[in-house]
Amino acid sequence: MTELSNIIITEEEIRNRIKEIGSQVSKDYEGKELVMVCVLKGAAVFVSDLMRAINIPAVCVDFLSISSYAERSEAGAVRILKDLDIDITNRDVLVVEDIIDTGFTLGYLLRILKARTPASLKVAVLLDRPALRIVDLPVAYKGFEIPEEFVVGYGLDYNQKYRNLPYICLLKTKK
Ligand code: IMP
Ligand code: MG
Repeated sequence: MTELSNIIITEEEIRNRIKEIGSQVSKDYEGKELVMVCVLKGAAVFVSDLMRAINIPAVCVDFLSISSYAERSEAGAVRILKDLDIDITNRDVLVVEDIIDTGFTLGYLLRILKARTPASLKVAVLLDRPALRIVDLPVAYKGFEIPEEFVVGYGLDYNQKYRNLPYICLLKTKK
């Protein structure tokens, strides 16, 4: 018996939307050097497609990894498990994340990255679940808004599984 339920965003819809976001990013950063910061592991699939949809020549990519919900203290603090290799001081930085839910994860991350004084700091998320937002954050590029249900695929996991699915789909066992 599978845990997977309906596909809510198809492979083709993702591909088309990423093309649009890539064009917009290319326009917005024309003539600049862009540092894309991928939040592991969820955004790995998104960043690899998005960076290839951007046609400015000077794109760097770097990765960081933060503690997941399960690893967090009761206060909900997010910890950096693997930091960036690149120094982002005075660089134009685009943080790439899989999904923004309450906003705690990104809110925390943006505070840390801002303290390193980048020239600019923006956010691209594949998925936005606005119904559950607690921390309000500026999101420059957004793929899709989704309903309250838990989703997997295209980088997003449930117990580390299903990141390989090329579409976004609902899970039967989790709300
Ligand atoms: P936030 O801190 O509540 O905004 O949660 C964002 C993080 O929770 C994301 O980076 C994901 O890793 C994880 N997450 C939230 N919703 C989902 C989901 O539906 N599927 C998989 N991971 C999720
Ligand atoms: Mg994540």
